[in-house]
Amino acid sequence: MEGCPPGLEVSQKLIQAELDKRRPSGEHETARRETDQVEILSGVFRGKATGAPICLLVWNREVDSSPYEEIRWTPRPGHADYPAYVKYRGYNDYRGGGIFSARLMVGVVAAGAIAKQILKRVGVEVLAHVVEIGGVKIKREPSIEEIREETYKTPLRCLDPEASKEMLRRIEEAGREGDSLGGIIECFALNLPPGVGEPIFGSLDADVAHALFCIPAVKGVEFGAGFKAARLKGSENNDPYRVENGKIVTETNNAGGVLGGLSTGMPLVVRVAFKPPSSIGKPQKTVDLRSLKEVEIRVKGRHDVCFIPRAVPIVEAMVACVLADHLLAEGYVKT
Ligand SMILES: Cc1cc2nc3c(=O)[nH]c(=O)nc-3n(C[C@H](O)[C@H](O)[C@H](O)COP(=O)(O)O)c2cc1C
Repeated sequence: MEGCPPGLEVSQKLIQAELDKRRPSGEHETARRETDQVEILSGVFRGKATGAPICLLVWNREVDSSPYEEIRWTPRPGHADYPAYVKYRGYNDYRGGGIFSARLMVGVVAAGAIAKQILKRVGVEVLAHVVEIGGVKIKREPSIEEIREETYKTPLRCLDPEASKEMLRRIEEAGREGDSLGGIIECFALNLPPGVGEPIFGSLDADVAHALFCIPAVKGVEFGAGFKAARLKGSENNDPYRVENGKIVTETNNAGGVLGGLSTGMPLVVRVAFKPPSSIGKPQKTVDLRSLKEVEIRVKGRHDVCFIPRAVPIVEAMVACVLADHLLAEGYVKT
């Protein structure tokens, strides 16, 4: 990470705490047991950023590349294998999905821990939780306090216990069937001052969406009312202004905290849709790249039935990194 304000509190413990949120833990998750111990190589001295680039290192300890030899010539449906084979002319490292593996997000979560420290300086907080898995939606909107305090204490990172039970049931069922499930994560950024963003091409929502689409398996990003806004009338979708404790606020937040690519001062609300993991136990059709014959494969290896809970800290980290960049570049953070 470059451009970190000197004097910013950065410690191994602080980064480790974020990485620990990403680690697989539940039964529905991969059997890989990554410890993800972070080492700080440079840029931090006596617990403070020095202003020089910060280099962090996390070793991939739990490696088993054996199942991947079989799929070398038979691209897995839903994975990046085929377009990567074409683009990199067969030289791509296909083991574990190579650069397309969500393992790459370890670096993002580590960077996000530092970005969150930068955000703290201006009182901005980023929180996320699971709102849908396998078509099961939460029926109750949790409060911000609940999301802040409880999310990481729940196994599915979901704050509706009834919905969680049904989600878990569906995950187990999908697992038994050799199948997988996707879901939706909602993320809030609180206390963002109004006017942050650099229209047109550095619009805040555009930058946040860009970062979120860089997370593997993300298929949709929506702000505020999102796709539902297309079905509302202007009179229903507009957020009326009013004054609260001398501050301009809006009565509703269909905009999701952004207008014209600039923050409104209301919470930034973004939802991220993830597809189900592509690696499933069921037989699937593919093509042998050598013979161009259609063949059937079964994907082996240690995969998640549902990785949505593990993507929560990744979503938070991506949003935190984008906001930290904007706030630094636009002079909100004293360096
Ligand atoms: C936290 C996380 C864990 C993932 N774990 C798996 C997995 O175990 N098996 C799998 O097939 N895909 C998994 N994925 C998704 C793949 O990495 C992704 O679908 C694949 O690289 C193709 O990229 P695309 O879906 O963005 O097009 C995971 C994604 C995330 C965010």
